[in-house]
Amino acid sequence: MASIAVALSKDLPNGRVMRAIVSEQDLVVWRSKSGILSAWENRCPHRGMRLSHGFVRGEALACMYHGWHYDKSATCRYIPAHPELEPPETIRAQEFSSIEKGGLIWVSVDGSLEEPLIDENLTPLRSINFQCASKTVQEVITKSTKLAGDTDPFNFTTKAAGYHHWVLFSEKKELNLHLFFHELPNNACKIHALIDKDCPAQIQKQISRMMESWRRSAETDYEVSAK
Ligand code: FES
Repeated sequence: MASIAVALSKDLPNGRVMRAIVSEQDLVVWRSKSGILSAWENRCPHRGMRLSHGFVRGEALACMYHGWHYDKSATCRYIPAHPELEPPETIRAQEFSSIEKGGLIWVSVDGSLEEPLIDENLTPLRSINFQCASKTVQEVITKSTKLAGDTDPFNFTTKAAGYHHWVLFSEKKELNLHLFFHELPNNACKIHALIDKDCPAQIQKQISRMMESWRRSAETDYEVSAK
């Protein structure tokens, strides 16, 4: 399985923690105070609390429940109830491969992290959540690009449509919009969008609003089809 984009890099500042799910694997993705990125199983080795509820303490992640600290190698280094104790090296969270490329955070849960090929002329635009399956979102995008006419400010056409990665091209504005689909459980998904670096801020805002209109349409279509 290829690596999956789980978030925009800018949405995980230094010292912050987030939860991500890739292929049903629950993950904690976090960035130390100095900016080091890690992706681990979202489960504390002590009593199983989700580590995504935890807190960054310098270069370590502290579990919310009993405060055990795990360093960047995912090894437990400090147990507050036994401050004199040096924890055994075997107390470790399960690590997964992660990388940052193109302003996105990529994770692989099967140990085969491939460096994604991202055009260097792109910049991150936004991530957007959908409470419906990615198939429905893709149908809505396909419909909206086919319907595009002179009144549409972008007139996007689909240049490429892989399983996770779509590229839309606007001939009118001469710009590319890259969409990375991130499947989530319970028929939900996310899109992480990148756009040409030289795209003016005003147009970026319009595209961001267009993505919100995709969300409204896709979620409505999904509700109707589920009835
Ligand atoms: S469950 Fe995490 S420290 Fe106890």
